[in-house]
Amino acid sequence: MYRTHTCGCLRACNVNETVTLAGWVQKVRNLGAMTFIDLRDRYGITQIVVEEHSPAPVRAVAGELGREYVVQVTGRVVERSSKNPRIPTGEVEVTACELRILNRAQTPPFTIEEQSDGGDDLRMKYRYLDLRRPPLQRAMILRHRMAQAVRTFLDGEGFLEIETPYLIKSTPEGARDFVVPSRMNPNEFYALPQSPQTLKQLLMVAGYDRYFQIVRCFRDEDLRADRQPEFTQIDCEMSFVEQEDVLEIFERWARHMFREVLGVEFEAPFRRMPWIEAMERYGSDKPDLRFGMEFANLTALAKGHGFGVFDDAEYITGFAAPGCAGYTRKQIDALTDFVKRPQVGARGLVWIRTEADGSVKSSVDKFYTTDQVRAMAERSGAAPGDLTLILCGPKFKTLTQLSALRIEMARLLGLRDPRRFAPLWVVDFPMFEWDEDTQRYYAMHHPFTSPKPEDVQYLESDPGRVRANAYDFVCNGTEIGGGSIRIHDADLQARIFRALGFTPEKAEEQFGFLMNAFKFGAPPHGGLAFGFDRLCSLFGGAESIRDYIAFPKNNAGRDVMLDAPSAIAPEQLDELYLRLERPE
Ligand code: AMO
Repeated sequence: MYRTHTCGCLRACNVNETVTLAGWVQKVRNLGAMTFIDLRDRYGITQIVVEEHSPAPVRAVAGELGREYVVQVTGRVVERSSKNPRIPTGEVEVTACELRILNRAQTPPFTIEEQSDGGDDLRMKYRYLDLRRPPLQRAMILRHRMAQAVRTFLDGEGFLEIETPYLIKSTPEGARDFVVPSRMNPNEFYALPQSPQTLKQLLMVAGYDRYFQIVRCFRDEDLRADRQPEFTQIDCEMSFVEQEDVLEIFERWARHMFREVLGVEFEAPFRRMPWIEAMERYGSDKPDLRFGMEFANLTALAKGHGFGVFDDAEYITGFAAPGCAGYTRKQIDALTDFVKRPQVGARGLVWIRTEADGSVKSSVDKFYTTDQVRAMAERSGAAPGDLTLILCGPKFKTLTQLSALRIEMARLLGLRDPRRFAPLWVVDFPMFEWDEDTQRYYAMHHPFTSPKPEDVQYLESDPGRVRANAYDFVCNGTEIGGGSIRIHDADLQARIFRALGFTPEKAEEQFGFLMNAFKFGAPPHGGLAFGFDRLCSLFGGAESIRDYIAFPKNNAGRDVMLDAPSAIAPEQLDELYLRLERPE
């Protein structure tokens, strides 16, 4: 037996017991007469003592120990004279009577403690060492607990966990596919699933009624803090449901998760907001509702008074930043620089201070009367002491830019408290999104999403007007999940493909298997998928999903620990009938 206890479980009630522990040496403090060893495993840290009168072999081994050595120690649990209230085992220590090195360790490249001194790249390269640190262990444990809570709930509701293949045919979710060449089928490729979308729909055709899967998805897209090229979804699908049924069950699921994992209860039903309202009031389809700063449409008030920038703009919108009227010139310049950054892309920023006495002062005073300026400030919701910030330009572009500024203001004002949660359903998404570059419509969710029945009449005449039976689950400004009611009728599906610019041949080639399946009795069905990594980082209060993934990729999509991707042997290429071309 390697151990009788873990390093996290000894307490005062164990005093006088003889125990055996095994773990990693976190720290050795040699005080001459006594040596203290912090022994660590995933469960905690226990202090080991080697004394002057400890057996000679124990003292000899203690003298050899270095950081991260793996050791086994047998000894007696004694009450500490100076207790350490900061750790759960802090009342006791173990006086070693046997000490054995199970494995020596090279000096690790960074400290393996709560806070590490290692930079990002180094810690990614030695991810297995970083994973020994308590914050990452807490993250992995949280993720595990959440996965259990997901399964308990969905199992209780009759969902079956069914695995779907990874080597499939492309399923469009708007990103690029990762592809895998087939040796047995020369010059042909599998695509890794961007999600199991079509497969779960086929499971509904197959009569499985309620399906879920905690499943890896693969998308070749540009990475951000909340995006990884391989990530995990909690993927769900249900038969004989309408949007309301899906929202009801998954709102209960979300409450179950918050309650079981975080002990957080929500009294009221989750808010629901049509997409257009989310865009106009917050400039985002994933608004952060932990704070206000709602947008006001100032177009009618601000246009037509001789200020060229506003007069030429399609849309003028602003919000009031609470208590910021006292911002200095320098602070306002910094906000202007922020909105002018290429990532935000605004041309300039107009501001109005509403002073404590109610008087107003703005950057456009020479174009407007005081009353006009005051009207704009009031429309933006400004109270005395607030600073109204205004942008203008094409409608949705301007709204998106102002959203970036709203989030920045919330950051500056410390309003993004990670321990507060503001969940919300965004509903009534448009069916299609117009793309200026390619001059065509794209499915805003995916091409299997059903349009609202009352909007089907506009499919051909005015596609931009068609709304979808699609919904997103949003919390704290992050899209945690999304889904839709699907089309289960082959004719309607064909019309959607046509609206998306697919020829019948192209649609048949890509999605023939699904459209054919629909001819054999497809039940009405719908579902959704949650980003599991995002849900974990939301619950853990972190910005990046990386900490909740055991072995993530870096921003360039590389696994620097495995050194992947990497070149493959010429024989492997030959087997696959592949020839490489160097990029320009
Ligand atoms: P969607 O594409 O919205 O829907 O994805 C569902 C959820 O997955 C998460 N997500 C990601 N997480 C980390 N890294 C990524 N690169 C990434 N991309 C997406 C998000 C998102 O809300 N098949 C549909 C679902 C359905 O209709 O049932 C789908 O995949 O949290």
